[in-house]
Amino acid sequence: MSNLEKLRAELKQLNSEYTKIKTLPPEERGEFGRMMNQKKQKLLSEIERAEADAESVAVEPLDISAPAAPNQPLPVIQRGTKHPLMVELDRVIEVYSAMGFDVMESRQLDDEFHMFDSLNFPAGHPARDGYDTFRTSEGFIPPAHTSTMQHRALRKYKSKLEQGGQIAVVIPGRVFRNEDADATHEHTFYQCEGVFVSKDATMGQLFGILRQFFEGYYGQKLELKTQPGYFPFTEPSAEFLIEKPACLGGKGYLEMGGCGMIHPNVLKMADIDPEKYHGFAWGGGIDRLAMLKYGLSDVRYFESGKLDFLEEF
Ligand code: DAH
Repeated sequence: MSNLEKLRAELKQLNSEYTKIKTLPPEERGEFGRMMNQKKQKLLSEIERAEADAESVAVEPLDISAPAAPNQPLPVIQRGTKHPLMVELDRVIEVYSAMGFDVMESRQLDDEFHMFDSLNFPAGHPARDGYDTFRTSEGFIPPAHTSTMQHRALRKYKSKLEQGGQIAVVIPGRVFRNEDADATHEHTFYQCEGVFVSKDATMGQLFGILRQFFEGYYGQKLELKTQPGYFPFTEPSAEFLIEKPACLGGKGYLEMGGCGMIHPNVLKMADIDPEKYHGFAWGGGIDRLAMLKYGLSDVRYFESGKLDFLEEF
């Protein structure tokens, strides 16, 4: 029995003794009453103290500099890590920065003008449907590709051309497409856009940059192949493929993105004279790059939130 419990029992006992008063001769009752009240007062204040003690938890002083007790397991601290896609995105930026490119930030909500008009998609043209765009009820568009940033990049860096320099910028960003996910498609993924403009930009220069980027990213020599493509914002347009890295068996080529010479209309819309300047642009998926690097077979792992998968990185 705790001290507090003992004191409470004593109080109960004392209270029951008050009834004795009736059995006493009247002249003794006053004295008895005073004595009982005194005892009761004393008990009540002891109980109050004991209650206060019981409430304050005993805290042992802690020496935070003491070494951990031997044989006692340390608490497991789960540290967060960077998401593998962010690690790859950083790597992409690092490789392009080393090649002299500026880096611009993308956005996750855009509009009809940047998604289509500024990229020379004619109004009502079926190519507008080819991008499976989401739309908000207010009419905004979560970008379906990082090319939505081309117009802003051209305007932002145009003064470099006027000063006799060139525009060389990459824009990584998150993109969204209203399509069913499968092992090689996600509704949400990352791309990196590249924009280059100078007085004498050529397709040959573009392919040189692409090859240099892939070799830098994978840290190995890789063959680059191109095939004809179609994009309203480039003319001519091409798709670029790279040789399968050795870790994936090394046979065959994989499509990595689209590219081409920037269409004169796209330059004109950004107030750049297509008679004086030429440019090329390209864009490709970062998820794809990372899948190849790690030999992953299903792109959906990245956005799955599966901790056991993420902890492997
Ligand atoms: N935005 C295109 C896509 O997502 C890829 C692309 C093609 C980007 C050609 C470009 C380009 O910059 O010039 O399918």
